[in-house]
Amino acid sequence: MCGIVAAASQNNVINILADGLKHLEYRGYDSAGIAVIENKKIHSYKREGHVSELTNILDKKLTSNIGIAHTRWATHGKPSEINAHPHVSDNNIAIVHNGIIENYIEIRDKFFKETKLESDTDSEVLAHLINSYSKENDILDAVYLALKEVKGSYAIAVLDKNNADEIIVARHGSPLLIGVGENVNYIASDAHALIMHTNKFIYLEDGDTASISSKEIKIYDTNKKPVQREIKKSNLSLDSNTKNGYEHFMLKEIFEQPEAVKATIQDRIINNTVPKEILGPNVDKYLSNFNLVQIIACGTSYHAALLAKHWLEKLAGIPCQAEIASEFRYRKHAVQKGTLAVCISQSGETADTLSALRQIKQEDNYVGTVAICNVPESSIARECDSTLITHAGPEIGVASTKAFTTQLVALMLLIIVLGKRFDVTDELEKSLCEQLKTLPTKIKSTLDLDNEIAELSKIFSNKEHALFLGRGSHFPIAREGALKLKEISYIHAEAYAAGELKHGPLAIVDENMPVVAVAPNNVVLEKLKSNLEEVKARGGKLYIFADIKAGFKSDEISQVFEIDAPMNPVAPILFTIPLQLLAYHCAIIKGTNVDMPRNLAKSVTVE
Ligand code: AGP
Repeated sequence: MCGIVAAASQNNVINILADGLKHLEYRGYDSAGIAVIENKKIHSYKREGHVSELTNILDKKLTSNIGIAHTRWATHGKPSEINAHPHVSDNNIAIVHNGIIENYIEIRDKFFKETKLESDTDSEVLAHLINSYSKENDILDAVYLALKEVKGSYAIAVLDKNNADEIIVARHGSPLLIGVGENVNYIASDAHALIMHTNKFIYLEDGDTASISSKEIKIYDTNKKPVQREIKKSNLSLDSNTKNGYEHFMLKEIFEQPEAVKATIQDRIINNTVPKEILGPNVDKYLSNFNLVQIIACGTSYHAALLAKHWLEKLAGIPCQAEIASEFRYRKHAVQKGTLAVCISQSGETADTLSALRQIKQEDNYVGTVAICNVPESSIARECDSTLITHAGPEIGVASTKAFTTQLVALMLLIIVLGKRFDVTDELEKSLCEQLKTLPTKIKSTLDLDNEIAELSKIFSNKEHALFLGRGSHFPIAREGALKLKEISYIHAEAYAAGELKHGPLAIVDENMPVVAVAPNNVVLEKLKSNLEEVKARGGKLYIFADIKAGFKSDEISQVFEIDAPMNPVAPILFTIPLQLLAYHCAIIKGTNVDMPRNLAKSVTVE
């Protein structure tokens, strides 16, 4: 949520800020702004809308050696120029902020009752607070004093007119890193914004504050004690920031899935076994003493959790619960002794998942924590006992695609390791490893449905609503298909376990309601067929994604798309692919912003 980029250099930083914002736009795109110090004055430029709206108005002659910039996803105050960051106080202090100041009204009433605030944001109050403390303190102390008043989460970068060489930054609950250069140092919410300038990063920890100039980086802990943080080399490639000839990041990422899955299993399957060492050095902390699994996640990652629950119980005989993190964190739990917690998160920064993880770590009955995550340096990856990285490569499209399929692959690897003490025999392990190894080729063949699905989308995109049906381990896939469709094409879609239709949703089925069915050739196939007959009998139009052996034929009411997905546990991964393509092509026809759908952001670092 919101992207921050900043730089202090011996040269002009304007292009660094503008390019950085473009690469962070996936984090929020309702307004953007930049503040620099030039001739001892703060100059700030802001625009509602995408980053290009801002860069279009930037004076080509503008130069400065120091500046901060922001792309916003609105929380407090609607998207507008006034609410855009940076917020400037008294022409002295400019700040950009990611996160939420929960007690901003209290702060406003305590300190600024008489001040006319310009915006409706929580962040402006923090700018004024830092400014007022800066009257009698140096800027670092002013930031410390101001943050002492704050409840909530933040990553901030602060410019002080009277201190034109340094930027003060701080983080608590929202990500922030420092890019290390030669005669230049950078700040950003994530490494994408800076990878074209440096591959050396310092990941700030919660509670850290830092002062950054072109020559020096000084980091302090919560008590203002200087601390050293390791400089890490990133292997992000410049390529991951480009569409590589595809029209959209989402399409590129859908087509990258064979490679992403291959990379996720690589070196983790050895002679058809999965060694426990894939879970790192802390695996023995929980491997021999856990007896049930609690998974927490949000959105698409939660759908991966739902399928993992099926797998854990069916294949390994391990009891499992899966819960949405935002619900989990606010209810009382009866935690059984020996629970292993698994957090699934593409970004590793999702606020609800991170906070649920931190609660779990306070509770004695949990024996360990495992992260399934795509970003090795993220908070969730760093804070779990074990981390299984999905090697999907950076996912830029807001709609999660390759992250989801690689999460499922990583979860299957995890289940094999966890299940050896339970029902996963050597024979089952071998068979699951073989299935995983065939996935990249099978995904490639499933992608061949692209043209057929593009044709289908011509009809589908006219619809206002859609129902998605699945049963058993394919119900999470139907849910994911519905989420994808609504997220990027704005067609209202709901998923139901097919057996639930007659308990209510059948009432909305008529000739205007397209019904998408996920139809593997498995034990509940005949049951599903009966459910689909109920739809046909009400005049509902069916679009069935079926295994070639499931025995469906197209007719005037149903259109069948065949997938070669043999009846085995990894089949749900293959059924995901056509549903991603359906959402993509509908969005294209509807002309929505595929990679940056309205009202959303990629990394949800606020509650
Ligand atoms: C998926 O398409 C979404 N954009 C969203 O549901 C996402 O999966 C969710 O916000 C969780 O993100 P995470 O995996 O980074 O934690």
